[in-house]
Amino acid sequence: MRQQIVAGNWKMNKGLEDGLELVKGILEKTEKPKGLIVIAPPFPLLREVGKMIKVRKYFHLGAQNCHHEEKGAFTGEVSTDMLQSVGTEYVIIGHSERREYFKEKPAMLAAKVNLTLSRGMRPIFCCGEPLHIREVDTHVGYVAKQLKSSLFHLKEEDFRKVVIAYEPIWAIGTGRTASAQQAQEMHHAIRVFIAKKYGKSVANDTTILYGGSCNAQNAAELFSQPDVDGGLIGGASLKADDFAVIIGALKG
Ligand code: 13P
Repeated sequence: MRQQIVAGNWKMNKGLEDGLELVKGILEKTEKPKGLIVIAPPFPLLREVGKMIKVRKYFHLGAQNCHHEEKGAFTGEVSTDMLQSVGTEYVIIGHSERREYFKEKPAMLAAKVNLTLSRGMRPIFCCGEPLHIREVDTHVGYVAKQLKSSLFHLKEEDFRKVVIAYEPIWAIGTGRTASAQQAQEMHHAIRVFIAKKYGKSVANDTTILYGGSCNAQNAAELFSQPDVDGGLIGGASLKADDFAVIIGALKG
């Protein structure tokens, strides 16, 4: 079944004290959401944030990344087993910042997706085009290729566990949101592309989130689009008031 989700990607922000303060504020301001909430703090905060949000069944713990190997001599890295051992339920994979700054390639992302699923966690797989691709109107094909190269090897039963986040790179942290029409156009195209591979029922059941300067002011319009099932939120997830408004914008 298609789920409505608001996920907060804190990126490299918040220490233990102010992170827990933020979670406290979000819990206080969120009554009964019309969907699921995922909080993805930095790795060192996972366990404590997880303990705090456990009291509410709508809240789930997410990680921002995982390593593509099971274990071994990879100094400074974090494995899916480690994430799973502290109660992580969702793992963000293929964020454009990882693709750009850490040179993560499609085959590596596919390996992360496989490991995440094998540990019983759900990938939030990010896709999205840079500005120069949008400007020459090849964004739909660009995103389709990202999905195909890292997800379409999955069996239907596994693909059904994947959440997709469409995040146009030109909209991330720039204050330049995709219009509701631009988001709807791409989300619809993604669903059509999934339908071609896995069939209409799987495509209909897939949760597709929008990300990129989504905030308290524009969330309701974006989420009202028929193929937009919520959002992956960066900057606005760091303010309890704003994040609560975004959660309240879910259409249920
Ligand atoms: P902003 O909401 O800060 O634009 O970030 C979006 C994002 O990258 C979420 O993963």
